[in-house]
Amino acid sequence: MSEFVAPLEVSAELSDSLGKLVLIKREDLFPLFGGGSKGRKTAALHGELMRALPGAIGSVGGLQSNHLRSSAELAKLLSIPFDAVVHNASPRTVLPAHLRSCRRLLICNAADVSSAIRDLISTAPERDFVFVPGGGHHLPGALAYSEVGRELAKQLTSFGVHRARVLVPSGTGATQAGLIHGLADTPHHVTGVSVGRQRPQGVRGVREALSWLGGPRHSICFDTEGFTGYGIYSDELRRVTALYSSALGLALDPQYVGRAFLALDRIASRGASHNVFDAYVVVMTDVLRTEPEVPL
Ligand SMILES: Cc1ncc(COP(=O)(O)O)c(C=O)c1O
Repeated sequence: MSEFVAPLEVSAELSDSLGKLVLIKREDLFPLFGGGSKGRKTAALHGELMRALPGAIGSVGGLQSNHLRSSAELAKLLSIPFDAVVHNASPRTVLPAHLRSCRRLLICNAADVSSAIRDLISTAPERDFVFVPGGGHHLPGALAYSEVGRELAKQLTSFGVHRARVLVPSGTGATQAGLIHGLADTPHHVTGVSVGRQRPQGVRGVREALSWLGGPRHSICFDTEGFTGYGIYSDELRRVTALYSSALGLALDPQYVGRAFLALDRIASRGASHNVFDAYVVVMTDVLRTEPEVPL
């Protein structure tokens, strides 16, 4: 499904209110594996896994993880069991359906993730069990986003945009790295907006994924300005998410793309880059889909 080209749409309302062309790259419309950027990365991995079909797969993520949702879809399509390590949940948490239907589910604290992953892998009944890196942090995913970067460059040319500031929610870093790589030979600039990491760890993830893609060193812009922590939503984030959701007519997820709109709101209100860039692009990596945490 790498041939799926997500539309680049003008938001007339946001362009009017922010005083500069605002374009939305609709990755949320990706049609496979639950959609969004994790759906695209999982589709890329699917192509790889088809060559050596494993007996089962497993992965790791938080309760709000879109990656776990997409990976569960992949296991279903391959008709193999799916195992998961879930952090930031408690045994009293009501889990979303894709986690309730896991074959093996290990719930742990954020501090115990590495040992839980080791347990999951070492006790897997299959010798060909495949552990998919958390967040879809793998080369096929980064390559898929390099392709998206190249296609975005063509779309921007067709809009007559010379120099865009591209904002993308960034977690493990493969999505941002792919976009940086795909847009490397253009004047456009990519800013990753943290969804879960402080700057040093965030930059490390992007740099690692860039190294898989080879080529020269790229500069990495990783924005942590409004960052409050994974699953922690400040009043400002809630307000901006609600405001931009109603402007766009789409339910934005405060955990992911809502943070990119918060960065956009802050950057545009400062006005500092108004002379340098002729458009803002927000990569809409997904809309709100994961059921929110409901404590019993
Ligand atoms: C909707 C959404 N956007 C962006 C990201 C970040 O992607 P990546 O892990 O490739 O940095 C995630 C996951 O963390 C996500 O679920």
